Amino acid sequence: MATQSREFPPEIIKILKSSQRVAVLTGAGISAESGVPTFREAQTGLWSSFDPAELATPQAFHQNPKLVWEWYTWRRELISRAQPNPGHYALVEMETIFPEFTLITQNVDGLHRLAGSQATIELHGDISRTRCSFENQIISDWPETDEIPPHCPHCGELLRPDVVWFGESLPAEPLEAAFQAASSCQVFLSIGTSTLVEPAASLPFAALRNEAAIIEINPQETPLTPLASYSSHHPAGEVLPELVSKMKR
Ligand code: APR
Repeated sequence: MATQSREFPPEIIKILKSSQRVAVLTGAGISAESGVPTFREAQTGLWSSFDPAELATPQAFHQNPKLVWEWYTWRRELISRAQPNPGHYALVEMETIFPEFTLITQNVDGLHRLAGSQATIELHGDISRTRCSFENQIISDWPETDEIPPHCPHCGELLRPDVVWFGESLPAEPLEAAFQAASSCQVFLSIGTSTLVEPAASLPFAALRNEAAIIEINPQETPLTPLASYSSHHPAGEVLPELVSKMKR
């Protein structure tokens, strides 16, 4: 890939400045600069060292709940030490610039919320929350126990992290809100996602059907790159603050 300038082309800034409705989809890449590992990157992505079939499916939890719980405990600890980076904070500012702004994330790390984004649609759940694997109710407290995973204090079934695993449906309301925002926006920003995992991967296509301009921020090319009005191949934490400062001028 030829080296690309970090500057956004003036026509892209102009489109953004004249837009009322903006939707943003973020993926693991926006948190990479906060030290949270991505999934699919060679060498550093979680799925290069761990098998998702053994750790992130309902079948895996059924077969080996202890392994799955402990893997999520490790990720929870890692995430609890992470702080939002300039990319997250730039999106907080963006929320104040556009009359209609929808931030949709596939991340479970809560860093958009921690940065101060007001109304983030979290499609894949929140790793810091725990729910009952039977009743699906969020459980905040349970009696201290050596059992791994602990059991639901109401029904006795196993507790699990409140995240969406492969093969599970996404929560209906957030998903509907995400598609509503994507299909009515004028600009759709895809930031730090490989755009490979459905249904989130279909969101930019909903935006394209509304003739929205697609702007991508990702150091690597993705299946979305050829369809984007502009792809910035730089880290989100570097280019997003620059983009926001250009918007204000
Ligand atoms: N800035 C922007 N993008 C980055 C950065 C960065 N600093 N660093 C890495 N990236 C890009 C990578 O090039 C890659 O395309 O972020 C993308 C991360 O892709 P994935 O690891 O596939 O993560 P994501 O798209 O969020 O995965 C979707 O898959 O495993 C499931 O549930 C999990 O929510 C996750 C879903």
